[in-house]
Amino acid sequence: MSDHADPPIFLSTELASPIAKPDGAGWRLSVAPMLDWSDKHCRYLHRLLSRRTRLYTEMVTTGALLHGAARRHLRFDETEHPVALQLGGSEPADLAHGARLGEQWGYDEINLNCGCPSERVQRGAFGACLMAEPNTVADGVKAMRDAVSIPVTVKHRIGIDREESYGFVRDFVGTVAQAGCEVFIVHARNAWLQGLSPKENREVPPLRYELVHQLKREFPQLTIVVNGGITTNAEIAQHLAHVDGAMLGREAYHHPWLLTSWDEAFYGDAPRSVCRDAVELAMVDYMEREAVEDGTPWYAIARHMLGLRHGLRGARRWRQVWSDHRLKPLPPREVWRIAQQVLAEEKAKGDELEQAAAERLLQTEGGMPAPVRGVATEAAR
Ligand SMILES: Cc1cc2nc3c(=O)[nH]c(=O)nc-3n(C[C@H](O)[C@H](O)[C@H](O)COP(=O)(O)O)c2cc1C
Repeated sequence: MSDHADPPIFLSTELASPIAKPDGAGWRLSVAPMLDWSDKHCRYLHRLLSRRTRLYTEMVTTGALLHGAARRHLRFDETEHPVALQLGGSEPADLAHGARLGEQWGYDEINLNCGCPSERVQRGAFGACLMAEPNTVADGVKAMRDAVSIPVTVKHRIGIDREESYGFVRDFVGTVAQAGCEVFIVHARNAWLQGLSPKENREVPPLRYELVHQLKREFPQLTIVVNGGITTNAEIAQHLAHVDGAMLGREAYHHPWLLTSWDEAFYGDAPRSVCRDAVELAMVDYMEREAVEDGTPWYAIARHMLGLRHGLRGARRWRQVWSDHRLKPLPPREVWRIAQQVLAEEKAKGDELEQAAAERLLQTEGGMPAPVRGVATEAAR
């Protein structure tokens, strides 16, 4: 399929129009917090693709916020709502400080990371190792809830190390819920705190979705969101029969076009015409704006949109243009022109190949289409 089959272009300003604060659908679909990936540029792209999906920042440590780097970590675009700030930390006073800053900057939710297994995070005594200390998490949640009026939520695993009983995660959720947390995002695999890298910890421990579904049955009053290994709308729909929401990380990042189907499929919105060319152009506008406002180079933004044309003709060459180091000195609109040219060449090449194939068929078969030839041969036998 060619990209040029997309619906007509519409104005990029319309694409980026903000929506109101979170509505009742709340946590139905979200894109996961991902360090180095779900930065504000990535979220800007995702918001062009879905108006409803909840977006999460990368984890920001309370330490970083205490040391005065708030603007660098908290700046976001107004269009990103609904957007949640994920905090990493365990000291209640520090968490309260971070949450307060998040609310002041306009975030719609504060999420506490209790799922990250990296050793650096463990040394700071937060992330997944906090699952062994539900009372500490409860204290942190209470401190944050006392400090802000936006929702305070927790993202966690189903267990740590070889602790695989349902009772472990049930007691964790029960204790933290008593401190007032009403939304739990559950990555449906254990975190193994020793011997696995963070990447392996997202792949090796087995997924056990049934535990997350069971949490919803046991705590029907809580909002339970399932996360981990979900890649298709069919899988999302299956989960939504059991829990309140689904959070996608890697699939949303690598194949962001998936998000364009979500508002209609999962929020019942009217169909909206979005096309890749318009999204790309909107990103170029954004790159120009960010260069002026923050001195951000275009390639720090473009790296997040390399999956935009995944699976389409010319995608590889298009990707190469937007990640070509030699083009770094050029303004983004110039890079965009080169990328468009490459797509046009690939399209022409494809058209030529199709034309040549059609002509070959006409010459060899005297114009008879292949299926008819099959039938004729069969009949002659
Ligand atoms: C590059 C990368 C960075 C991540 N950083 C964070 C993070 O900062 N905070 C967090 O809670 N989870 C983090 N995660 C985990 C994801 O939020 C998510 O739980 C995990 O990838 C499983 O979901 P998926 O299979 O849909 O990707 C990260 C994942 C990736 C791939």
